[in-house]
Amino acid sequence: MLLPVGPTPFLGKPEISERIVRDIPAGRWGEADEVVGAAVYRASDASKNATGSCLTVEAVGRPPLDGACLVQVSPSELPSRHIDARCVHLIPAAVDQVCVSVRTCRVVLAVVVVLGRGPVVQTAFDESERRAWAGQADAYAASFAELCACPVPGLLDAAEVREGARVLDVGTGTGSAAAAACERGAKVTAVDAEPGMVARAARAAPGADVRLAALPRLPFADDEFDAVVGNFVLNHVGRPREALKELRRVTRPGGRMAFTVWAVPAAAGQALLGRAVQAAGVTRPAHLPALVPEEDFPRTEQGFAALLGDAGLRDVVCDTLVWDHRTTPEEWWSGPAAGVATIGQIVTSQNPVVIAEIKDHFESLCAEFAGPGGVLVLPHAALTAHGRA
Ligand SMILES: C[S@@+](CC[C@H](N)C(=O)[O-])C[C@H]1O[C@@H](n2cnc3c(N)ncnc32)[C@H](O)[C@@H]1O
Repeated sequence: MLLPVGPTPFLGKPEISERIVRDIPAGRWGEADEVVGAAVYRASDASKNATGSCLTVEAVGRPPLDGACLVQVSPSELPSRHIDARCVHLIPAAVDQVCVSVRTCRVVLAVVVVLGRGPVVQTAFDESERRAWAGQADAYAASFAELCACPVPGLLDAAEVREGARVLDVGTGTGSAAAAACERGAKVTAVDAEPGMVARAARAAPGADVRLAALPRLPFADDEFDAVVGNFVLNHVGRPREALKELRRVTRPGGRMAFTVWAVPAAAGQALLGRAVQAAGVTRPAHLPALVPEEDFPRTEQGFAALLGDAGLRDVVCDTLVWDHRTTPEEWWSGPAAGVATIGQIVTSQNPVVIAEIKDHFESLCAEFAGPGGVLVLPHAALTAHGRA
């Protein structure tokens, strides 16, 4: 049972009879983010049915403190009790004092753990992604956004996005999923790590609350959403498991979560640009790091489902969605020519002669996908995985 916590100000002289443990070593109880300090207090009237008394505690720890976790335990459970992060009450702000009312509780002991979530360590992959997407919102909208929008209706269905549902669209990009969720009458929040995407998504989904935020850290309280969707974003984060755990944290227990990534091996249409790059003898430059092997996962139905399962999602199902994307050679080339996504970063990091060579190969290979009237018909395959928080 949680202790009731309110925004009660510091009450002056603490009514604490005894401080019995202090500064429990960081990480001792795991899971509940980084434990930067903890103190255990005995309520002055611990032996009685506490009524009307107040236990005021000073939180300990070092900055940055952005939450306090309050739990009630009996002495026999200390200090080995495992704190389940889903059961804690987080106070979202720097906290150095909290007031715990014990009026209605038969409190034996109150444990206050101050959680400092600390700065997020960006992986080299994340830093590279951030550079890759910087300023690319318009070029993405004009090239790959339409392709990526195809799985959106199925994704929203899998996440049971319907009227009134509190929905988070993470890595919203130009806002396709956020706008579609708004059309269903959902209460939509959307985030993206790139400011230009945030601006475009806000225009595409004026009814949504669109914010700048980057996985694996989100500025939301536990259990804030009924559903979370992420359309082609888990393949752009340096720590997909951490990202999923964070997304699960902000989803209410039993809430739906649904995600897409590209299938590997890539479908023929998706491999087209890579083949053109390869034909020109170009390899991935060192400044574009791949995901480190320990963070990677097989881009198969089994591999993607296991990733969600590892993050604690239940009833996970993963399907493959295949479709033909219709575009033109000019439109398809415009994305990489502008530096959009990894393929674009590879192309634009070459000198003009090599870029022209890649383009020549691309145009030759386009013949394999030529449809009527100069249209390119590009087969694609995406994995859609969903489960319950
Ligand atoms: C391929 S786009 C997909 C956009 C959108 N979901 C769609 O379907 O069109 C990937 C998006 O993820 C965003 N992104 C990349 N890394 C991110 C991170 N760590 N946190 C949040 N967004 C991220 C990028 O800025 C980009 O807008």
